[in-house]
Amino acid sequence: RPLDINIELSNEQSAQKLKIGIYFATWWALNVVFNIYNKKVLNAFPYPWLTSTLSLACGSLMMLVSWATRIADAPKTDLDFWKTLFPVAVAHTIGHVAATVSMSKVAVSFTHIIKSGEPAFTVLVSRLFMGETFPLPVYLSLLPIIGGCALAAVTELNFNITGFMGAMISNLAFVFRNIFSKKGMKGNSVSGMNYYACLSMMSLLILTPFAIAVEGPQMWAAGWQNAVSQVGPNFVWWVMAQSVFYHLYNQVSYMSLDQISPLTFSIGNTMKRISVIVASIIIFHTPIQPINALGAAIAILGTFLYSQAKQ
Ligand code: 3PG
Repeated sequence: RPLDINIELSNEQSAQKLKIGIYFATWWALNVVFNIYNKKVLNAFPYPWLTSTLSLACGSLMMLVSWATRIADAPKTDLDFWKTLFPVAVAHTIGHVAATVSMSKVAVSFTHIIKSGEPAFTVLVSRLFMGETFPLPVYLSLLPIIGGCALAAVTELNFNITGFMGAMISNLAFVFRNIFSKKGMKGNSVSGMNYYACLSMMSLLILTPFAIAVEGPQMWAAGWQNAVSQVGPNFVWWVMAQSVFYHLYNQVSYMSLDQISPLTFSIGNTMKRISVIVASIIIFHTPIQPINALGAAIAILGTFLYSQAKQ
């Protein structure tokens, strides 16, 4: 009964599309909340190495509790799993701390405009390190992405080189993280959610000594007191919110990466940035010039063209 099979297949495909759509919408919404609380915290407490560490610690703790109470099944892993996870965790740690350092120096919208150039990094990394080649339209679509980001960067009112470089380093690190993660997830029985949980734990171990070396408890204690006296007792809830939402949005994004290619993932991620850019400009009253907004719009349009060219 070929007709029945076709109908069943198309029902399955629509269900799959709906599922990915729900994942994407949840991922974007959680990410907007994370970005807002993360910036509120960084404005009062400019210690991005500690806030990055706390996000990973909170996620690791949430997952350990979920496994212990059997809300989620703990994954069965072996030494090989952790060995393959190591490079992914290094890339995740670098990408995460670099993005947070960037957001501590510049407007959230600026970090995300630069981070919307991630597809261009995917092509460069795949071309240079994986030997993949792409059709000409793909390379051409990178021009508006790179040009738009550059225009937005040079016209940015509060440009800061650390903020810019942090976002660029994060782009590069996350491309490696996504490619290696997809490879690591393929063929093993660990789900996207548990894969991200293990990744958080390993990244936490990698990041903690560096956070202590770069900032350290003395700076944190003085900074914390200062933040609490500025913001009041609510400050601790802001820190909790940024940490919990960081874990949740990443967990949902890994649940979708489980189902899609790294490329679709990075396009979904760029689209996510539109909501973050708009929300953060409104909430933080970020001053922008028309030419600056034009640069961002060109970069994002470039990503649409890129996704078309890749198909
Ligand atoms: C981080 O702290 O890891 C970044 O804010 C994440 O950036 P993303 O939007 O690429 O996940």
